[in-house]
Amino acid sequence: MPQVRSRCQRRGPVGESVLASGVARVGGVLYCEGVALERIADEVGTPTYVYSAAVIRDRYARLDAALSAVPHRIHYTLKANSNRAVLRVLRHMNAGVDVVSGGELYRALKAGFVGADVLFGGVGKTEVELRQALEAGVLLINVESEAELRLLDRIAGELGVVAPMGIRVNPEVSVDSAHRYIKTGEKGAKFGVPLDEVLAVARVAATLPNIDLLALDMHIGSQLFRVDGYVDGTDRLIDLVDQLRREGIDTLMYLDIGGGLGVSYDAEESPSLELFAESIVPRVQRTGLTLLMEPGRFIVGNAGILLTRVLYRKRTGGRDFLIGDAGMTELLRPSHYDAYHRIEAVHAAHAQMTADVVGPVCESGDFLALDRTMDEANAGDLLAVHDVGAYGYVMASNYNTRPRGAEVLVDGDQFAVVTARERYEDLVHLERDDPDWRDG
Ligand SMILES: Cc1ncc(COP(=O)(O)O)c(C=O)c1O
Repeated sequence: MPQVRSRCQRRGPVGESVLASGVARVGGVLYCEGVALERIADEVGTPTYVYSAAVIRDRYARLDAALSAVPHRIHYTLKANSNRAVLRVLRHMNAGVDVVSGGELYRALKAGFVGADVLFGGVGKTEVELRQALEAGVLLINVESEAELRLLDRIAGELGVVAPMGIRVNPEVSVDSAHRYIKTGEKGAKFGVPLDEVLAVARVAATLPNIDLLALDMHIGSQLFRVDGYVDGTDRLIDLVDQLRREGIDTLMYLDIGGGLGVSYDAEESPSLELFAESIVPRVQRTGLTLLMEPGRFIVGNAGILLTRVLYRKRTGGRDFLIGDAGMTELLRPSHYDAYHRIEAVHAAHAQMTADVVGPVCESGDFLALDRTMDEANAGDLLAVHDVGAYGYVMASNYNTRPRGAEVLVDGDQFAVVTARERYEDLVHLERDDPDWRDG
């Protein structure tokens, strides 16, 4: 359905035509690529996450092209959206992955990635997870403290391997993230090795028998629009590289500048990839190192919508409420991060209303939008909550014993259920009616 694709396109911040979200209105109804969202709701039910494969490919390809002047690899970060079908789309684009748990490593391997595709990060890796990472032969393990480094050395020795390792540096730069919970590279953050301790940790790494110090890494925050945080952080990493080389520590191969590129949720302009690349690429070229990035939101954020059906419309205290079948259990971002997500009626509405769009969960913090001027909707209507491809389904919960919804991938004129809706049995199958009591 070519007209849908062309209507999904808009002018990007640097003038190029970009696929915005894969969702467009055709003949009064919303489509994702060539598939009517109503058809998905009818066949799969609601609430359901719907992802556009075309948008995921487009985002990956644009970032890859922007970095083309320097040896690089994009390691998509699973925490944003770890659906295995989404991972497979990215594997076919030749992406690597970035994981932060044994569970994410397991998923990545299940989706067909091999150890050499994997960066393993995270502030609190367990001994078991470090062992799993080494056994999988990952490309890099980014450690966040000297204690973790020494543990990694011991485990690698026990396994008879040399651990490929990077230091996650806290570069102590300020960034323009939309919410304080997604700033990760400022002084005092729990993440990374403090800037003034990095050289000491690197010197220890250089002396340990089972460690190969291959990278310096940072991740300064998420939903970033300005390049200055990246520039300051990259300069600090390069300064450290230079100092280590002067001391004769010359094993480094990679500079990993993390993820964080912002996406448009409302009227924000996505960051200019050209400006980003112009600022970062020459700096990395000068070091002769391979550039690694760990983007999540930029790749998948605009590629997903959440389909939800209005159960009731109710007026109370002078306010209109649309009570839908999705709330904080499906999409936590509005209540957790004060995040804005555009909401549209799937069938074109002829009037506007101002409403709180809330879910069925027994919490006053259970909402998708507050005091929102939006398409008029009534019980039975379908709504599309936009730009939920990142940090959406992965943060869903079973609170109130609510089964998690389905996930659907659209590719051109086809769609497939890529995660089935949970059933009540799925929610209790690990519990025991008859506990196996042990003596204390
Ligand atoms: C270490 C690390 N890398 C990459 C990311 C991905 O960030 P984003 O989705 O903003 O690109 C995160 C997100 O928190 C992270 O903690």
